[in-house]
Amino acid sequence: MSESFYESVFGVRGKIALLTGGTRGIGLLIAEGLVKAGAKVYVASRKEDACRETEAALSAFGDCIAIPADISTIEGCEKLATELEGREQALNILVNNAGVTWSEELGQFHEKAWDKVVDVDMKAPFFLTQSLLPLLRNGASADNRGSIVNVTSVNGLRPTTLHNYSYVAAKAGLGHLSRQLARDLRDDYINVNVMAPGFFKSKMTAVLFDTEEKEKEIMERAAMNRAGNLEDAAGLVIYFSSKAGAFVTGETIACDGGSVNTT
Ligand SMILES: NC(=O)c1ccc[n+]([C@@H]2O[C@H](COP(=O)([O-])OP(=O)(O)OC[C@H]3O[C@@H](n4cnc5c(N)ncnc54)[C@H](OP(=O)(O)O)[C@@H]3O)[C@@H](O)[C@H]2O)c1
Repeated sequence: MSESFYESVFGVRGKIALLTGGTRGIGLLIAEGLVKAGAKVYVASRKEDACRETEAALSAFGDCIAIPADISTIEGCEKLATELEGREQALNILVNNAGVTWSEELGQFHEKAWDKVVDVDMKAPFFLTQSLLPLLRNGASADNRGSIVNVTSVNGLRPTTLHNYSYVAAKAGLGHLSRQLARDLRDDYINVNVMAPGFFKSKMTAVLFDTEEKEKEIMERAAMNRAGNLEDAAGLVIYFSSKAGAFVTGETIACDGGSVNTT
């Protein structure tokens, strides 16, 4: 039977993907979506037990392998790339999703809060991409473009009330870095795009949802009155990484119910 039009446009079956921070929150949603769509998905995060749990849970739907890794240092990024090189000849999809945040009053905001966030949210996507270039280039061709999706935040697109200074700077920086990389990798057949999430329920945002009243209030204020879900997060990454997104690079899409563009 010939491939359906839908599968030829949106299919990611057989593609090899690496997702940082794929063990919970938005990363886990994207990993689940990619696995269910038939990609072979590597997830990486620091905690060994979270890695094993994710691998076991997602293996019920398809191909998922977890690699414990700390990407907050260049050595950690290189180690992860070397580990993947030992297992695969090529990489088709890289999702730089792992992130951390820090909120503190402007007067008290200190260097540790700056370095910790910038290292994971902006520096790691750059050095992990650099370390994985040989595998990404091996997987890319005019007909089957590679896909790097950098996960930023609506907080990197417009100011917020959260006093998360290093976070907004790192996310805005990663957004612009993505356009630069899109330019530099365009002729290597690798697309670089940005997913900028709005509210998703996760460990990172748990403090905003930790009582019913807070959750009600935040949802009443939220565009579309809800948080993001699996289809929202995975659907956008699948769009960027399939033929559907082949002609799109250097683009930022807010995945936020329209909060940035309509409120
Ligand atoms: N949730 C939202 O509403 C929201 C909104 C806008 C943007 N975002 C962005 O979306 C991404 C995912 O956020 P989330 O809410 O899903 O966060 P989360 O629930 O806190 O998950 C973060 C993931 O990153 C991993 N991670 C953290 N530091 C790491 C490191 N040094 N090395 C490797 N892995 C590391 C964590 O696993 P380990 O702890 O095991 O390392 C975890 O899997 C982040 O980039 C975040 O900034 C989220």
